[in-house]
Amino acid sequence: MLEMHFGNMLEEVIKEKGLSLVEIEEIRDKTAVAHNQICGRKWDELAFIDLVSQDTSAIKEIAAKIVENSDLFLLLGIGGSAMGPRAILEALSPMHNFRHSPKIFIYDNIDPRSLEAIIEVIDTRKTTVNVVSKSGNTAETVASFMIFWAHMVKALGSDAAKRFIITTNPEGGILRQIVKENDLMSLPIHPSIVGRYSVLSAAGLLLSEIAGINSDELLLGAKDILTKCSNAELWENPAYMFSVLLYLMCVKEKRTVNVMMPYADGLKSLSEWFCQLWAESLGKLGLGITPYPAVGTTDQHSQLQLWMEGPEDKVVIFIRIDDYGSNIRIPVVFDKIEEFKLLSGQCLNDLINAAAKSTELALSNASKPNMTITIPALDAYHVGQLFMFFEISTTFMGFLFGVNPFNQPWIEAGKHNTFGLLGKSGFQKQREDIERMAKDSVCWKL
Ligand code: PA5
Repeated sequence: MLEMHFGNMLEEVIKEKGLSLVEIEEIRDKTAVAHNQICGRKWDELAFIDLVSQDTSAIKEIAAKIVENSDLFLLLGIGGSAMGPRAILEALSPMHNFRHSPKIFIYDNIDPRSLEAIIEVIDTRKTTVNVVSKSGNTAETVASFMIFWAHMVKALGSDAAKRFIITTNPEGGILRQIVKENDLMSLPIHPSIVGRYSVLSAAGLLLSEIAGINSDELLLGAKDILTKCSNAELWENPAYMFSVLLYLMCVKEKRTVNVMMPYADGLKSLSEWFCQLWAESLGKLGLGITPYPAVGTTDQHSQLQLWMEGPEDKVVIFIRIDDYGSNIRIPVVFDKIEEFKLLSGQCLNDLINAAAKSTELALSNASKPNMTITIPALDAYHVGQLFMFFEISTTFMGFLFGVNPFNQPWIEAGKHNTFGLLGKSGFQKQREDIERMAKDSVCWKL
């Protein structure tokens, strides 16, 4: 089970830069209100919680077919529709494309050069394209879908339709219309589930099954941590305590930056997924916390200097893994030289954990607040726990701040501006604003 170590956030350990138990107790009223919002299911968007007990048979059936008839699985999506699936893949099937088939590409942009390169390398007869969009309306995803649709139809004729699977809202969106009209395979994302909370829906689970990752274990981990994170008592609920500590550090100590630093390459994408969740859910009404992804030990050699001596505005959150599942030892070579001898025979598992602990110690000794989440192993069960833990924490944090953690007005505004620029009816004002901005822009031609 996931563990959370938060002594380094408290004044007992980091002295006057830490939080007191009185400060934590003082916000009991707020935490009770936030808890009631969640456990009273006051928001339809809390439907992400029910994903832990969903029926996954349709996902598994489709995945089995794709594995049988495809060498390549190409996921087109953006935001939550790409970051969640990527977090699963990189955490649980490292170097997937060198070791397994079908190969998996996740493409979440519309950079023409990248798209051209993908088109050049895919074998249309052996490729399945999974278009993932909760709203079913996002211009980037729809544009890349259109490009691949035309490309596949040109190559395969009417057989192309069989090579698409659309994961989207069952009740609306232009992709749903295309599914109906062309009788395409599709999987639903519940209408109330917001994109960045959709990782444990078909958005993430189809890819998971295709990659050979046990989606039942992901859901079981999520379900087990949900039980712990449903406890009304703050001191018994790790997700609530995680949020309370970061909330107090933000509002009392002006620590408005949260660094998410797993000591695992495989969790780098999960830390980016967390950053999207934290940023897009909380950054509202002048409130929120700036998340910042990092990875250990790499960023010890890039960012740590700033954390130690730069502005006092950060809290560092480490994720450590007890057992990496590998016994790689550094061989005994060049051991006549003292520095080589020191490393000889060391197990990398121990070395990376020692590095994590030494960074934690350096920060704590300098009274820099930090927390550590540990998981026993990097497997589907514990990755499922991390997803649900952070989703509950984010929701709870939104309610502490008093913002809606489920909307994203400025993401929608960006989507509308794009429509405006493309000349869609009803979006004339956005088009005019963009044209005015282009005129007003200051430019040096060098
Ligand atoms: O969390 C969100 O709502 C967004 O980040 C979306 O995931 C992103 O904009 C993509 O939207 P959609 O999945 O509807 O295409």
